[in-house]
Amino acid sequence: MKTNLGPVNALYPSLTTIVGAVVEGRPNFLAVAHVGIMNHGTPQYLSFGINKAHYTNRAIHEHRQFSVNIPGEDLVVQTDYVGLVSGRNTDKSKVFELFAGELEFAPLIVACPVCMECRLYQVVDFPSHDVFIGEIVATHADPAVLDEAGRIDNARVRPLLFDMASASYWSLGRPLARAWDAGKAMKRAGEKE
Ligand SMILES: Cc1cc2nc3c(=O)[nH]c(=O)nc-3n(C[C@H](O)[C@H](O)[C@H](O)COP(=O)(O)O)c2cc1C
Repeated sequence: MKTNLGPVNALYPSLTTIVGAVVEGRPNFLAVAHVGIMNHGTPQYLSFGINKAHYTNRAIHEHRQFSVNIPGEDLVVQTDYVGLVSGRNTDKSKVFELFAGELEFAPLIVACPVCMECRLYQVVDFPSHDVFIGEIVATHADPAVLDEAGRIDNARVRPLLFDMASASYWSLGRPLARAWDAGKAMKRAGEKE
């Protein structure tokens, strides 16, 4: 028997990101862990849900551009800080050194090993949250986190995983098995039956 917890969202751990936008002419950043992969293909879309009370929402509606930056473990303090204070009362524009990409209103963070520039595709309007869906325009990665084939190697990124129940950041563990491979023997056995 399992314990019914009621409608508890159990989709944790999730990836901790730092979303950037330009609010009232100034870059602003907030921690966002409620992120999703929307359309893995071409184009690529991602989503995140943020409370309408946050300072950043208006800017994303206005400019229809934003960045999604992936901090490594070394940025846990700064990531938590931009998730603790609001740009409404605190200037967060100087927390990170920034670099320019293709979009004017998607501030990118030098210290984050992976940074994506996005154009707003759609907003899903929930009573308390905006779910922003963005098309990824460009992804910038530090060469140091790329493997020999030029792919992002998360063992080198060392992302911050967020867990709501423990209200903690977790580290990525070790690789366990190859995907689309671990089940192959079971598939072959099923085909023989
Ligand atoms: C680890 C972490 C993850 C967070 N994830 C989200 C999230 O997914 N959605 C959200 O609305 N707020 C989230 N927050 C809270 C916002 O980052 C926080 O309220 C921030 O101060 C809002 O900044 P702003 O008012 O400058 O936009 C998170 C905070 C932390 C520390």
